[in-house]
Amino acid sequence: MLDFTGKVVLITGGGAGIGRESAILFAQHGAKVVINSVGPTSGQETVNLIRQKGGEAIFIRGDVANNAFCKQLVEKTVEAYGRLDILVNSAGIVRPGNVCEVSEETIDEVLAVNVKGVFFTSKYAIEEMTKTGGGNIVHIASAACMYGVKNRSVYTASKGAIVALTKAMAVDHAHQHIRVNAICPGATITPSLEERFQTSADPDALRAQFVANHPIGRLAEPIEIAYSVVFVASDESAFTTGAAFMIDGGVSL
Ligand SMILES: NC(=O)c1ccc[n+]([C@@H]2O[C@H](COP(=O)([O-])OP(=O)(O)OC[C@H]3O[C@@H](n4cnc5c(N)ncnc54)[C@H](O)[C@@H]3O)[C@@H](O)[C@H]2O)c1
Repeated sequence: MLDFTGKVVLITGGGAGIGRESAILFAQHGAKVVINSVGPTSGQETVNLIRQKGGEAIFIRGDVANNAFCKQLVEKTVEAYGRLDILVNSAGIVRPGNVCEVSEETIDEVLAVNVKGVFFTSKYAIEEMTKTGGGNIVHIASAACMYGVKNRSVYTASKGAIVALTKAMAVDHAHQHIRVNAICPGATITPSLEERFQTSADPDALRAQFVANHPIGRLAEPIEIAYSVVFVASDESAFTTGAAFMIDGGVSL
């Protein structure tokens, strides 16, 4: 059913985890995919995985916290593939600290990537999408925005902002045939979550605590989140906009 033939998809944070699996899935369903990530190699690895399966993709390295880079990212996407149909904002960072502990620098760092980066990429993407009659934007928020995650104040706030922004953008751009939705994952086994476990005092205990918090009794695989991303961006969900989907194994319940 899902068919993205002729569509061009731009995915920020596509070098790992949810962004990478979404990129692979879009490509398997016919899309040309532009992968962005901040690191030097991981985005190219995603491209290689796509090409090995016969798909079409390129990598553009850069930091979505940089407004000028976001403009270039969209421009280079259009240079390479002629248009932009779907934007997935998956780049995101997590920093610890409650409001009494977290420094102003850390607040600025997290909001620059998780919120301003989404503003910037969306702004330039929308300008392109309107030239071709419409498009689709999917933000990766987090189930964390629905409940209190201990010691993650600025991350939780950033993801709450993204859900609110999803609704504002959906209202603002519906008349331009641009749908905007958010996917809110529960804990998903990606490089950043693995790093969090491995750098804790007791990785097994922390992993068990995460699992216990999810009524479904396990953590998500990135592909399980990617299926939701691809579905909400597809024509099959053409009546869906401004929604925030909890794909979270029940953790927010
Ligand atoms: N893994 C989870 O448990 C989980 C749960 C809920 C929400 N999320 C969200 O899902 C999204 C993806 O996270 P993940 O865990 O799948 O991946 P990850 O954290 O393992 O990898 C993130 C990717 O984003 C890229 N990135 C980071 N900062 C960037 C920047 N400034 N500019 C461009 N790229 C940048 C990295 O290079 C990497 O490719 C994030 O927004 C995250 O907050 C993750």
